[in-house]
Amino acid sequence: MKLTDNTIFITGGTSGIGRALAEAFHKLGNRVIISGRRKALLEEATAANPGMRWVELDITDPDNIRSVAAHLIREYPGLNVLVNNAGIMPFDDPAGAIDEDTMLASVNTNLLGPIRMTAALVEHLKKQPRAHIINNTSVLAYLPLATNAVYSALKAGLHSYTLSQRFALRHTNIQVQEIAPPWVNTDLIYKGDDPRAMPLDAFIEQTMAALATDAEEVLVESVRPLRDNPGAGEHALVMGFNESIVANPIPVG
Ligand SMILES: NC(=O)c1ccc[n+]([C@@H]2O[C@H](COP(=O)([O-])OP(=O)(O)OC[C@H]3O[C@@H](n4cnc5c(N)ncnc54)[C@H](OP(=O)(O)O)[C@@H]3O)[C@@H](O)[C@H]2O)c1
Repeated sequence: MKLTDNTIFITGGTSGIGRALAEAFHKLGNRVIISGRRKALLEEATAANPGMRWVELDITDPDNIRSVAAHLIREYPGLNVLVNNAGIMPFDDPAGAIDEDTMLASVNTNLLGPIRMTAALVEHLKKQPRAHIINNTSVLAYLPLATNAVYSALKAGLHSYTLSQRFALRHTNIQVQEIAPPWVNTDLIYKGDDPRAMPLDAFIEQTMAALATDAEEVLVESVRPLRDNPGAGEHALVMGFNESIVANPIPVG
């Protein structure tokens, strides 16, 4: 995508990847609007980046999504980029009982949220000379992590939806891109110095460089071998990956 002259709406812009992407686009002179539930962080991020705008949004709430979309179209008629980034990563146990509320929050945030947000803005995006929908999935869409089984399945679902969306929009001005991050050092699980987590700065640098191309999938180098479809070797790959996590668990909280 062209990295300049855009009006960009980012869900989940209060922290982590969303905030860092917002700042990277802002530095390039784009008009950036961030969103999230934590108003104090929206205010803090926009105060630190003069010109950046914010709107409160709970992505699990369909009415809120519709009203925010109407606000965006009214206030920012040049809006041409949607970044579906908001997400949560609850732990679960596919070998045991599932907490209903946690599971529903995950479904509503990680899969239905981006689907609803896109549906609310897509007709507007079609009217722009050039437009982009960027869905933030995860490497776990391709390689499920058994300690976060619902999350992994929902990210696989968002990847699948992205493929359908790209096909359905192929004759329009809208380009559909997917960012599939590796483990990045943010608050998503816990922010620490785990050497397995990619530093946020390095992730953003590689991601912005890949976004500048027309790549359908925006992948940092470390994700490529995991993304490559292992075919019938998938089972061994998934078992080996999860055994490595069992041997060296991800600290919770
Ligand atoms: N970090 C990683 O290792 C990693 C790896 C692969 C994919 N990802 C994906 O990257 C995206 C960003 O995650 P992150 O790592 O930057 O984590 P993060 O720092 O925890 O950011 C998550 C963002 O999502 C927003 N959010 C969560 N629930 C929301 C809701 N109900 N309504 C609106 N916004 C909501 C949060 O804002 P509020 O709390 O203010 O609402 C926050 O801005 C997620 O989709 C995640 O799945 C991350």
